[in-house]
Amino acid sequence: MRTALVPTMGYFHAGHLSLMQWARENAEKLYVSLFINPKQFGPSEDLDSYPSDIDRDTRLARETGCDVLFMPEPQDIYPEGHSTVVDVPELSRHLCGASRPGHFKGVATVVSVLLNLALPSLAVFGEKDRQQLAVIRRMAADLHLPTEIVGRPIVREPGGLAMSSRNAYLSPEERSRASHVYRGLVLGREKVRAGEDDAARIEEAILKYYRENLSRDEIDYVSVVDEKTMQPAEKIKPGAIAAVAVRIGKARLIDNMTLTEGAVS
Ligand code: PAF
Repeated sequence: MRTALVPTMGYFHAGHLSLMQWARENAEKLYVSLFINPKQFGPSEDLDSYPSDIDRDTRLARETGCDVLFMPEPQDIYPEGHSTVVDVPELSRHLCGASRPGHFKGVATVVSVLLNLALPSLAVFGEKDRQQLAVIRRMAADLHLPTEIVGRPIVREPGGLAMSSRNAYLSPEERSRASHVYRGLVLGREKVRAGEDDAARIEEAILKYYRENLSRDEIDYVSVVDEKTMQPAEKIKPGAIAAVAVRIGKARLIDNMTLTEGAVS
């Protein structure tokens, strides 16, 4: 029997629901895990205030056809004496890994535990967290896990803002500024469509747009990388993505875009 797992930290939005719907259509049983994993938060991050609404999540999971909603306690995942850490160092060094030391170790560790507990045929993740997806794919391949790792497209709000549970932190004014994150990426993609193939010039164009529309200290990184290796690209080739992170108010927002989609090659 084909089973699918959608690992989440809850506070479901349309992005989570699209992963569940896809999983529902591509497997006979749908498992959803909801676990706010303490090991992927740094000491000064938002573990204690991470948004949560268990009743709403339970209802939405049921309406989406979830067969099992797994909501473990930290001691279920990390029982007394737990000390194994899964690390994918090459892919975890840059981008979010540089700003959030230890984050991807926490992600790779919890996902490997969840995959071992559920033993699903498929596990489905959103492409908003592209670096996370690359880390998980590498981890699953290196550990010879039998689960197929599936990435699904970003779901966006009407103004382009990528859906994220952390969008709940944004005030209306911050939310409208946050749509510049998406617009900067679109501008990068348009430059590629117009024939630009130098990655540094694409990064510069996106950064310039952000500097004009956001404040400098809100910008964490803008980087053109290969979607599989997450290493900086020099020339725009198939698989090149622009990946960005900004901090607006209390929210750290990440986003990315495939640059070659629709480009004239
Ligand atoms: O993307 C998330 O929500 C989390 O990082 C994940 C994959 C559920 C692991 O805690």
